[in-house]
Amino acid sequence: MRCAILTLFPEAIRPYLDESILGIAQAQGNLRVDLVDFRNHTLDPHRTVDDRPFGGGPGMVLKPEPIFAAVEDQERAHGTFHKVLLCPRGRTFDQRKARELSRMDRVLFLCGRYEGYDERIRQGFAWEEISLGDFVLAGGELAALVMLEAAVRLIPGVLGCAESAVLESFETELLDYPTWTRPREFRGMAVPDILTSGDHAAVARWRTEQARILTHKKLGNAPS
Ligand SMILES: C[S@@+](CC[C@H](N)C(=O)[O-])C[C@H]1O[C@@H](n2cnc3c(N)ncnc32)[C@H](O)[C@@H]1O
Repeated sequence: MRCAILTLFPEAIRPYLDESILGIAQAQGNLRVDLVDFRNHTLDPHRTVDDRPFGGGPGMVLKPEPIFAAVEDQERAHGTFHKVLLCPRGRTFDQRKARELSRMDRVLFLCGRYEGYDERIRQGFAWEEISLGDFVLAGGELAALVMLEAAVRLIPGVLGCAESAVLESFETELLDYPTWTRPREFRGMAVPDILTSGDHAAVARWRTEQARILTHKKLGNAPS
């Protein structure tokens, strides 16, 4: 996947990109990320990216010119991107959307700031508007990282154990089952005997049952 993140704060994003799964995916060649500071696409001496809203009101609004120029520059260089506009009014991100993004060759995230976007930015491109949840962040950078990480770990070959992504919560209709590791006993809390029984079929049945109980507790329903 080639990813372009349009942001005013590339240095806030960069360190996270270099670590763990996102760093590994880049080293593997499964991910290429360009951090694009759209302030570099301004043409005025003050490098202005925002201005007061017409009609009055609080805060500043992102101007269209630098963002149009940055998007068009990316698409000229690399071809058409699936374009994600990060905003609280978009559709809420979930595992299904992560999987959809993971199958795309080129994804561009636009990170807003201040009071948000001049409406012509919305109108000018075929965006998919996505929200991280029903709350307001100061900018889209964390949302872009969350969505990118959730998608990239689903790209075949990125995770060491492909099975882990398939068996996880939200990938099946059941939430993930509970897990333990060594030591067998810790501060009076013991690992359930079934897990050390060596009976793989019984372990699988037990885990499914536990997953069903957890799913029912959290979501109020679980497939039988
Ligand atoms: C302070 S917010 C603007 C909020 C906007 N005035 C509103 O009320 O919907 C600035 C930027 O942060 C990002 N942002 C804030 N909350 C977000 C969320 N829940 N999901 C995705 N991006 C978000 C968006 O890019 C947004 O343009």
